Amino acid sequence: MNEHILIVDDDPGMTEMLAEVLRHRGFRTSRAAGGEDGMRAARELRPDVIVTDVRMGAVSGIDLLRTVKGELPETIVILMTAFGTLESAIEAVREGAYDYVSKPFKAQELLLVVERALESRRIAAENRQLKTVLREQSGITEIIGRSPKMIDVFKTIARAADSTAAVLIQGETGVGKELVARAVHTHGSRKTRPFLAINCAALSESLLESELFGHEKGAFTGAVAKKAGLFKEANGGTVFLDEIGDMPPALQAKVLRALQSGEIRPVGANESFVVDVRIVAATNRSLREAVKDGQFREDLYYRLNTLVIAVPPLRDRLDDIPLLVDQFIKAANIRTGKHVTGISKEAIAALRGYDWPGNVRELEHVIDRAVAFAREEVIVPDALPAEIFEPRQSTLESLDEMERRHILYVLRKTQGNRNRAAEILGIDRKTLYRKLLKFGIEGDEGGDAGDAGTGRTNP
Ligand SMILES: Nc1ncnc2c1ncn2[C@@H]1O[C@H](COP(=O)(O)OP(=O)(O)OP(=O)(O)O)[C@@H](O)[C@H]1O
Ligand SMILES: [Mg+2]
Repeated sequence: MNEHILIVDDDPGMTEMLAEVLRHRGFRTSRAAGGEDGMRAARELRPDVIVTDVRMGAVSGIDLLRTVKGELPETIVILMTAFGTLESAIEAVREGAYDYVSKPFKAQELLLVVERALESRRIAAENRQLKTVLREQSGITEIIGRSPKMIDVFKTIARAADSTAAVLIQGETGVGKELVARAVHTHGSRKTRPFLAINCAALSESLLESELFGHEKGAFTGAVAKKAGLFKEANGGTVFLDEIGDMPPALQAKVLRALQSGEIRPVGANESFVVDVRIVAATNRSLREAVKDGQFREDLYYRLNTLVIAVPPLRDRLDDIPLLVDQFIKAANIRTGKHVTGISKEAIAALRGYDWPGNVRELEHVIDRAVAFAREEVIVPDALPAEIFEPRQSTLESLDEMERRHILYVLRKTQGNRNRAAEILGIDRKTLYRKLLKFGIEGDEGGDAGDAGTGRTNP
């Protein structure tokens, strides 16, 4: 839904012009002529943002601000100041206005302030939501896997959970680093304390700093109230620093200090205090490379590098695919109200032949889509996206591999019809069946029983 912006000014030309510009940008707008009208409109409409003039008849923009802050704490207030009201505007920011623009201003300038305000409110809301979700999640989120590589990962998680040292989780995108981080927390002695996550790549340096370490009231524009910060809020628990490879160097120094002595200093504060927080970090870049390139502090790297959990890419643990697929089908059924019961052998074989650059997350999306569009009870190759059948990019493949892939591709195109597939491939049905057996696409039980192996339900 588009955000709703209320414009308050006793100059109708002004409100009309601003409404025009904001509407053009996709916002919903309402206008009020003066403070009293603005007060009424604010209560009635509960807008996301109020842009108000300061000096207006009996009820000023400051009066409006105070009422709004008391009654509609979520609403952002931005002031427009004319010459002579700047002082009161600064005072107003102290009282909780998000920011002010001085008249005369360009429409573009106001747009920027509005968008920035909405963005920071969105981030704050997301963080709040993330935190509650994480707090409520006391149970362990299951990590699925039975391949030897994942069993190793489970063992390392158990070891890490017992220790108090910082943990570094490495792995390509989508391998499940966040799941692993949570498991380290929930299997350890801090499990009843908070696990708070933050993505170091998603926030600007200054925002990240105050999210992590907190800030004093008035430390910068928009620092309306004192903020505790993640380290303080997670006291006794775990802070998960996701994408730590993208953390700006100045903050790396602060994190190192937190690691070494537990000392935290909020933005704008004169003194530090000590917290008891366990740090779990994750990265999909090589930190060693980042150190070499001068982008990552060597001392922090060594500090993090004592306990490393390397989560292998999905293509190195293809045996986990059937388990993961089962789980994802179940979850997708619940979400979509479908009743998909499983997946055909051909489809599993195709999934095993793909190299999964997006790893488990990509597999999850593929299955989600296959379930959403499924016309069958069972997922067949036809329901899988085309790229699954394209040659692997990372390896030069053998003739066998190529043959296998081509057979799967033709089966997909013929929607699992083996007679037609054999015809297209220029071999007889028995030969096709032998090849399916050889490539492990067909099990012994399948026999020559028509097209049942594709899992299609024939009426
Ligand atoms: N072993 C697993 N069992 C069940 N679900 C998994 C597993 N691994 C990953 N997932 C799921 O795949 C998705 C991606 O996992 P996650 O967010 O932990 O990956 P990530 O390594 O943090 O990725 P990125 O580097 O992109 O942040 C999530 O929805 C997660 O639940
Ligand atoms: Mg992640």
